[in-house]
Formats: sequence, C-alpha cells, structure tokens
Amino acid sequence: MSAKVSASIAARLLAWYDVNARSLPWRSPPGNPPPDPYRVWLSEVMLQQTTVAAVRPRFEAWVARWPTLARFAAASDEDVMAAWAGLGYYARARNLLKCARAVVADHGGRFPDTEAALRTLPGLGDYTAAAIAGIAFGRRAVVIDANVKRVVARLFADDGANIRTHADSITPDARAGDFAQAMMDLGSAICTSRAPKCLLCPLRADCAGFATGAPEAFPKKKAKTAKPTRHGTIFWLARGDDVLLVRRPDTGLLGGMRALPTGAWGDNDPALADAPAQADWQWLDGAIVHVFTHFRLICRLAAARVEAQEAGAGGEWWPVERLAEAGLPTLFAKAAERFRKG
Ligand code: ADE
Repeated sequence: MSAKVSASIAARLLAWYDVNARSLPWRSPPGNPPPDPYRVWLSEVMLQQTTVAAVRPRFEAWVARWPTLARFAAASDEDVMAAWAGLGYYARARNLLKCARAVVADHGGRFPDTEAALRTLPGLGDYTAAAIAGIAFGRRAVVIDANVKRVVARLFADDGANIRTHADSITPDARAGDFAQAMMDLGSAICTSRAPKCLLCPLRADCAGFATGAPEAFPKKKAKTAKPTRHGTIFWLARGDDVLLVRRPDTGLLGGMRALPTGAWGDNDPALADAPAQADWQWLDGAIVHVFTHFRLICRLAAARVEAQEAGAGGEWWPVERLAEAGLPTLFAKAAERFRKG
C-alpha cells in the first residue's frame, strides 16, 4: 500500500470519527486536548477483558470515589480489591495500585509521557503503554486491541502474521490517540465480528477483505480447545446474622479477594474435608457453574450454622444483610445468592 493510500485511510477514518465517535467518560471529544492520563490508564486497564458497557458505570463510580491518581494511590488494598469485584482478572486491580504508587513514588505523581517509560511501570504492558502514550499524550503509537486487530486483518486480508506492521503503516503522526480510538469504534460499530456493515464503512474502497467477498473470514479464528472441568465446594458458615468470609491468598485465582471459604478445586467430587469448622454441614441441591479463562468450575454448596460462643475459623464474620458491600467476586456473589435463597 502506498504512503498516499495510507494517509488517505487515516484521513477518512478520522473524518468518520469526528462524526461518529462514541461519547465515553474517559474520552475527550475528537480533536480536543487529551484527557487526564489517570483516566486513560484506568479505563484502558478496566477495558482489557471487559466490555465497554460493563466498564462505563464502574469507571464512573471509581473516579467519583478516587478522582485523582494521588487519591487513588493512597487507597487501601482492601478497598481497591473490593471496588474491583465483578470486573474479573483481579491481578489487574493489584497491579493498578502498585502502578499508582510507583508513579507517585518515582515520577512525582505524573505518568511518564513516552511508551518506553510507561512500559517500565508495574503491570503496564505493551498495549497499555501504547494506548496511554497515544490517547493521553498524543504520541504516535500503534495501539492494537481486539477491535483494531479485526479491522487491520480485514483491511489487509492479513492472516494474522503482520498485523502490527500493517497497523503501523496506516497510523498517522498527528491525532494518534483519536486514530487508535477511531479504529476501536469502527471495529465496534461497523467492522463487527459477525455481519460487518461494509456498505457504511469509510475504508471499503481500500479493503482487501471486502474485495475477497468474505471479510468475515478475517482474522482467522483459532480452533477453540475444550475447557477442562474442575470441581469444588463453597462453604456458607452462619453465626447469628453473620456469615464467615475469608481473604484468598494473594497469588492464584481470585487472589487477594474477599470470598466465601472453599475447598481446593480438583478433579474429584466435592468434599467437606476443607470445611472451615466442625459443624453439621448440609449440602444444598444443585451446583454453581462458573467459567474461568482456562477451566469450567462446578461448585457444590454446603451450609452450616454455629453458635455465637463457638470460635470461628480464621476470617471475618460479615453481616449477611451487608454482603453487597463485601466486594465478592462474581462466583461468590452467585453462590451467596443461592445460599440466601436456601
Ligand atoms: N477499548 C479499549 N480501549 C478503548 C477506548 N479507549 N475506547 C473504547 N473502547 C476501548
């Protein structure tokens, strides 16, 4: 593709964005000065693995509570983990706090403004560094998320081998942040996974995927491997109006999150071996099924009650009525609802 065609693609895409940009709380409108790097960083981390629709209200609540990087960096680990509950991939929340504290301690409370310097921050990978450099600092950066990848794969009829080179070739020097977000919006609104709306696309004339007559064939789908199934037990130990909660170990699945006690996940049938106390455990009917990235988890539920004077296992007794404030990950929120229905 000639430099002239590349420049024309960028120009048409930006003109399309000027009219069609989604209005999102972490953005500034097309052509305006860039948004606060704190908001860009936070949104980009939240948006990894989570949809725009799910992130929008959570982002707004977050910046209402912690409006600046400095305020957020001073938050407690517990509050941050609880605030992240339901967003999944909890290592992101732990890294977020580490990164904020590093920016305060090592960079005077301001994000560095180059991709290379951003990449040195804890938990900040290639994608996020490029996105912040482009969107918050107007630096030319090649930002490739799933939407961008799909647009580029189709535009160049690329089987996936040269996405970065191709994306680089159409990225303009000016308005790089708008360009990146324009690619994302085109992917979300027009160049959709299924049934792309090619007739509305500003890039159709140059699209090699469109020319093949089967743009949906790009990008090539990886064959999905079946997820293994694991089994586990979730325990509901009641005492008066409270239920026992524990904090999961920092490393591993749902690390650092408040949770109902569980047994180890394994291949075997659920068991009471890991119950948090000696008690008259009753199995509830049915099970909770929860799908993680690498496996499907089937949990049986066991409930028991202890008397106020009986010492509990390690953990905290939490008022059942205020369970919504505990910041339980979705798996445990689902389980709690089942326990409460009995
Ligand atoms: N997905 C990831 N980053 C995004 C952004 N800045 N706008 C919209 N969707 C996104």
